[in-house]
Amino acid sequence: PSLDRILSLADMEAVARRVLSQKALAYYSSSSDDQMSYQENAHAFKRFFFHPRVMRPVSRCDPSTTILGYKSSIPVFICGAALAKLGHPDGEANLTRGAAQTNIIQMVSSNASLSYAEIMAAARPSQPLFFQLYKNVNDTLAEKRVREVERLGYRSIWLTVDALVPGNREKDIRSPWVLEEMESGQPEYHVDVADGVVEGGDAGLGTAGALIANDDRDMTWEKTIPWLRSITNLPIVLKGIQTVEDAVLAAEVGVEGILLSNHGGRQLDYSFPPLETLYRIRKQRPDVFDKLEVYIDGGIERGTDVVKALCLGAKAVGLGRPFLYAQSAYGVPGVVKIIRILEREIVTAMRLMGATSVEDLKPEMVERVDWQPL
Ligand code: FNR
Repeated sequence: PSLDRILSLADMEAVARRVLSQKALAYYSSSSDDQMSYQENAHAFKRFFFHPRVMRPVSRCDPSTTILGYKSSIPVFICGAALAKLGHPDGEANLTRGAAQTNIIQMVSSNASLSYAEIMAAARPSQPLFFQLYKNVNDTLAEKRVREVERLGYRSIWLTVDALVPGNREKDIRSPWVLEEMESGQPEYHVDVADGVVEGGDAGLGTAGALIANDDRDMTWEKTIPWLRSITNLPIVLKGIQTVEDAVLAAEVGVEGILLSNHGGRQLDYSFPPLETLYRIRKQRPDVFDKLEVYIDGGIERGTDVVKALCLGAKAVGLGRPFLYAQSAYGVPGVVKIIRILEREIVTAMRLMGATSVEDLKPEMVERVDWQPL
């Protein structure tokens, strides 16, 4: 259908589901075990209702914010997700160009299907790009990667801490194509073979198993954060924090940000929805918000979802699958389209709540209800 007919992120996903190959859809849509975290990530937003204020002037309304000091036109960023080329020949570059046209920020996956240099080359001269790091078990290889992306001009390192081993993703395991391509010696997609994807991969664990086979399973607060600090000057964000306790530890160790995430429900099933974790940090340890930037991802589908997270103290939210689906269905215009949809939904929600800037969004404007919504 023409892009004009796409009114929501759900419309976009429906188109993507029709056009994606079976192996791409299996990889993009999969989540672990019984998909409880995946489903609850989205469902959690449905338990939070607004207390909108009226009789406030809202004709001017600015949804922009900053993320680690970089301007973003809306409080939304593109999460690092592997293998964008599976859905469209231009892959991650679609996301880079869509982000450039709308002034939002893209986080590039360690397992991007274009090289980090190719993605940077698709960016505008001063366009900020962030880098998601899967830390290799070999410190020397990991250091090489961090230094490479810093040299290329990436502006921050988002260290993924929730994927030491792949979650049990059955859809994906039934479709072990990545490893087969690697072993054939003619991979259709770039993934960093220097990291030993082929040798370390395990076909039995599906695509994710092949891609993160060499992740460091023994990272610690005491060792890994000082190591990363010692090899880079870039700001550090921990991606995959899932408890109040770890949010507090992250604030103590002094990283610049945390992304509350359960990897889109692809890792530990029954991990709390990030919105609920955010809510618990707000209630139990609001001091954390003064020490670092807090973001969430997982299950975000609407502008109201974004506004709820901001009310509770998130600086911005990330989306993974919606961007993969949009670029697969329509390339760059699809990416621009969902950002415009989110922008319109966010501004509408803010105005109807009496808010004209992200600073106006406060915890008391949202309530977690104890009745069971429809
Ligand atoms: C991911 N995610 C992810 N995370 C990461 O740190 N490195 C990666 O390479 C990937 N790859 C990846 C591939 C695919 C297909 C998906 C769907 C997700 C997780 C991603 O960054 C983010 O946490 C979730 O996608 C957020 O949930 P939603 O927005 O997809 O619901």
